[in-house]
Amino acid sequence: MFQEPDGATPLDPDEMLGLKFKYVTTRGELDELEQANIEDGLSWVSRRRGGSVFDDGFIRTLHKKLFGDVWAWAGEYRLTEKNIGIDPFHIPVQLRLLLDNASYWLENQTFPPLEAAARFHHRLVQIHLFPNGNGRHARIATDIMLEEMYDHPPIAWASGFNLQADNERRQNYIAALRAADAGDFRALLAFVDTPGY
Ligand SMILES: Nc1ncnc2c1ncn2[C@@H]1O[C@H](COP(=O)(O)OP(=O)(O)OP(=O)(O)O)[C@@H](O)[C@H]1O
Ligand SMILES: [Mg+2]
Repeated sequence: MFQEPDGATPLDPDEMLGLKFKYVTTRGELDELEQANIEDGLSWVSRRRGGSVFDDGFIRTLHKKLFGDVWAWAGEYRLTEKNIGIDPFHIPVQLRLLLDNASYWLENQTFPPLEAAARFHHRLVQIHLFPNGNGRHARIATDIMLEEMYDHPPIAWASGFNLQADNERRQNYIAALRAADAGDFRALLAFVDTPGY
């Protein structure tokens, strides 16, 4: 229905029915509604008490807070196959495994903060938990991990660009994720290391 940039996942008709605003006709209108929701969600993130980023309940609640005003299925795991992402049947177990690994990396200082962030972010979007909003949700979840678990500043994901639109920064981001799919994290490490804050 909407024109998606490279590296995004289109919604199927059932998922489109979950749109809570029936008058939306353009991608721009949808982006604005989602952006307003995300801003409320971010203020919830900073006000909340408790809720660890390594808890799968928190991961789902976070998606609901970021997208729940716009999408009825926010916070609920994907049930359909997408061009990106694992078989939906394996989502709960693969997420649990990632969160346990990430918690182990922290405890054992396996990776410097930005490398842990790159690996955590990549696997989260590769699993592709939800029908939509995975990129934005996983960028925010990664920043929460950095700030709350590593006491490290957040990543300059957009770095002056609009990461949702096709431009050089997004092309680098998607290319870096594809290299990470093949096990090569160098480009993603360089990407998250861009100073900007
Ligand atoms: N080859 C890939 N491997 C892993 N993750 C990918 C790959 N291609 C894209 N992604 C991730 O999937 C996201 C797109 O998924 P989705 O549309 O659910 O997220 P979004 O937040 O709605 O979109 P976006 O961040 O693209 O605006 C991208 O932002 C990126 O994080
Ligand atoms: Mg999308």
